[in-house]
Amino acid sequence: MSDLLRVENLTTWLATESGIVTAVDDVSFSVRAGRTLALVGESGSGKSMTCSSIMRLLPGNGRIAGGRVLFEGEDLLAKSPAGMEAIRGRKIGMIVQDPMTSLNPLLDVEDQVGEVFKYHLGDRSRRLRRPKVVDVLSRVHIPAAEKRLGSYPHEFSGGMRQRVAIALNIACAPKLLIADEPTTALDVTVQQQILALLRELQRGTGMAIILVTHDLHTVQRFCDEVAIMYAGRIVEQGPVSEIFARPAHPYTQGLLRALPQLGSQEERLPLIPGQPPSLSSLPPGCRFAPRCPRATDLCRTEYPDWMATSGETRRSACWYADEVLG
Ligand SMILES: Nc1ncnc2c1ncn2[C@@H]1O[C@H](COP(=O)(O)OP(=O)(O)OP(=O)(O)O)[C@@H](O)[C@H]1O
Ligand SMILES: [Mg+2]
Repeated sequence: MSDLLRVENLTTWLATESGIVTAVDDVSFSVRAGRTLALVGESGSGKSMTCSSIMRLLPGNGRIAGGRVLFEGEDLLAKSPAGMEAIRGRKIGMIVQDPMTSLNPLLDVEDQVGEVFKYHLGDRSRRLRRPKVVDVLSRVHIPAAEKRLGSYPHEFSGGMRQRVAIALNIACAPKLLIADEPTTALDVTVQQQILALLRELQRGTGMAIILVTHDLHTVQRFCDEVAIMYAGRIVEQGPVSEIFARPAHPYTQGLLRALPQLGSQEERLPLIPGQPPSLSSLPPGCRFAPRCPRATDLCRTEYPDWMATSGETRRSACWYADEVLG
């Protein structure tokens, strides 16, 4: 099956007080229709910047410095601003940790969701939009949706608000949904409900999902592929089943070592001693070398090129990946 989204060598710069840093560094991955890719990594590793780069919604001090974002074969980075507007919310949806950032506090739910139909599908009549709004709210399981049309975002619970944000983003049946930590702010049972909802919507529509998460159990249960980020780069990627069975990068190994002990509570990534490097003073070799139990002089001086391992389905940027995958 061909890829719905293919990100190639994506590189994003940010202007900071300590100069220009590369927040997304030569990142490549692809996502097929109906599949879910997990983006995992410690805080600051570049997951959100990768998502915002795909959507071309970077902060003012950010700039895409290179690469391609091929969506249905077209490079989103080459699109005009108007061309990009037509993609966002219509072909690619994005939900974030705090739904209040994607909801307009001044609009009731009917106008909020209706706006999407008006903008993207040209549905001018409020009366004719109403059944569509009710339908999409029902699909995200807002109880008694037709009675909630006049409610404002602040009148909903966190979980219900995230459902409204999902409704906005699936209203036009996008091919891809980017979900950047969509459940982190919610309590455990509500998290599971939102994940179950995303899965149900995916099964019904065949949309692809990029899920940013800190919860490795969620990766295991919910995702097909995983890309593990460290200091702006992907260090290992491939099918979840293979990576979890045989992690080849010491960083992934460190994350997964703690997995069997993790409970069912919301999980942050397990702690690996030490800190990721600052993007403004990166070590010359492998960025993980200062924390890596396996590191040698080679690791400390030269960045490991991608090792294509296990029949091209997975890759690991470690000089010693072959010791695991041979
Ligand atoms: N607006 C900004 N201006 C300057 N630097 C930023 C800005 N936003 C993020 N950064 C920096 O860019 C890098 C990548 O940040 P990003 O938000 O993508 O990380 P993340 O992996 O999503 O982390 P988290 O798990 O905390 O959400 C970090 O070093 C962060 O400090
Ligand atoms: Mg983030």
